[in-house]
Amino acid sequence: MSLRLVLLGPPGAGKGTLAAVLNKELGLGSVSTGELFRNEIRRRTTLGRQVTRYVSSGRLVPDELVVKVMARRLSRRRVGRGVVLDGFPRTVGQARGLDAFLKARATPLHAALYLDCPIALLISRLSGRRVCQRCGRNYHTRTMRPKRAGLCDACGGPLIMRKDDQAKTVAKRLEIDRAKAKPLLEFYRQRHVLYRLDGRGGIVQVFQRLRRLLNHEGWLKNSGR
Ligand code: AP5
Repeated sequence: MSLRLVLLGPPGAGKGTLAAVLNKELGLGSVSTGELFRNEIRRRTTLGRQVTRYVSSGRLVPDELVVKVMARRLSRRRVGRGVVLDGFPRTVGQARGLDAFLKARATPLHAALYLDCPIALLISRLSGRRVCQRCGRNYHTRTMRPKRAGLCDACGGPLIMRKDDQAKTVAKRLEIDRAKAKPLLEFYRQRHVLYRLDGRGGIVQVFQRLRRLLNHEGWLKNSGR
């Protein structure tokens, strides 16, 4: 069975980190809108130029553009064991767009997983996050240190702070998230696919909680994991 999951949660909740573990442990592919936009900005493409002012200031890219980009990306993708959408959808408008896309392919969503985290933890995760300038891999100054200080374990690229992790931009992102999250969660609650997951603790702990949930729902059957 191909699993289709959406990972929701405020900035710093651990969506990207969990998506990477799901890939390694369960073989699920992932698409992150944030990563996709940052790549386009790095490569100075037309899309990159369109989204750069939103991403660097912590504002949301307009729904119409996000849905168009994601529909294109998902249509091209081989789903395999399953796919995790990280950071998409982020508004009810985007959720409706995803719904229409999946319905047209008769491939419903299994779950919208909301990672719950207290605000102090979000701030500590974001202020300590470092990313590889070359390949985008995530690290943390306290909880996920690279083997060699300042350098990516995977490609040796330099580790930097994301522009939108500056304190002022983080405050803006958290404020936007507070406004958008409630109606989005209600959208998925009404469709009976909303699950809340405690995002506190180490990544192994968070992953184990999620694995228990996936097992409980019978979604790991036949996956061989
Ligand atoms: P995006 O990159 O999606 O940012 P975000 O949602 O704000 O989420 P983050 O990437 O900041 O956090 P995360 O939850 O993935 O946490 P992570 O795993 O990295 O989007 C960036 C921008 O792009 C947006 O502001 C917007 O402009 C635009 N955009 C993107 N999607 C959009 C959309 N759908 N619509 C419109 N605009 C969109 O973890 C954070 C840190 O904590 C890391 O250092 C990690 O190592 C550490 N950590 C994580 N989990 C743990 C753990 N369990 N234990 C210890 N450390 C941990």
